Amino acid sequence: DARAGSALRPSVIAHRGASARAPENTLEAVDEAASLGIPWVENDVQRTKDGRLVVIHDDSLRRTTDAEEVYPGRAPWKVRDFTAAEVARLDAGSWFGAGYTGARVPTLEEYVDRVEHHHQKLLLEVKNPELYPGIERQTLEVLSNEGWLDRRHLTNRLIVQSFSADSLRTVHELEPGVRTGLLGMPAVADLPGYAGFADLVNPSYASLSPAYVSAVHALAGPHGKPMKVFAWTVDDPATAQAVAGYDVDGVITNKPDVVRRALYGY
Ligand code: G3P
Ligand code: CA
Repeated sequence: DARAGSALRPSVIAHRGASARAPENTLEAVDEAASLGIPWVENDVQRTKDGRLVVIHDDSLRRTTDAEEVYPGRAPWKVRDFTAAEVARLDAGSWFGAGYTGARVPTLEEYVDRVEHHHQKLLLEVKNPELYPGIERQTLEVLSNEGWLDRRHLTNRLIVQSFSADSLRTVHELEPGVRTGLLGMPAVADLPGYAGFADLVNPSYASLSPAYVSAVHALAGPHGKPMKVFAWTVDDPATAQAVAGYDVDGVITNKPDVVRRALYGY
């Protein structure tokens, strides 16, 4: 049961799902994280031509689907130039391995349903929000329709993150109960300005230091609790141990099984 790992600190977060073992951002990658007993999954949300939210990392379909073969002549295969029905026809698994032929690009609704099914927690990234005006409101509407804006989900199951501070501020203003994470590593002097609407600061591990982590922890976020740090993307066991030693609150990894073993021995 994925709930078993919930008490761990730092949390182990499956980046794009368990994406070293199953194709990133698919339901199969959520299932794989669940079968490993990993409670947290991270994903990336973008928008189709007809306004549906779908889970995919790149703003193009090219790398992780067979769009080039299915829709020749529609270069550069931007997500926003295809309808949801067109995206639903694509194979998002074959590029990763023959065993995953037929995996799809999930809609956000399908994705949230699967996370709920496994009793997991969701670190939802609003990706490239500058390309998709209004995506914050729309994401919150989907989450609301899915029952993910109740107290239980807000306090324990959901974090919305983005590289865009403007986007997170919008999320916070629209739905103040939602916890938010600012991706990147702003200067320490600028952190108080973000504490008004960001509960977490989520930097790349490469430039992170213990001093930075404690500077974040010293501030109270918008819900009155110390701001947290989830570091990405750590796949190497020794690096995971080092980053955990910085006192981070979460480690985002493509290899959640490897990182959990490195940190907790199982
Ligand atoms: O969760 C952190 C990480 O996902 C941010 O970078 O490009 O993998 O979305 P990226
Ligand atoms: Ca991401």
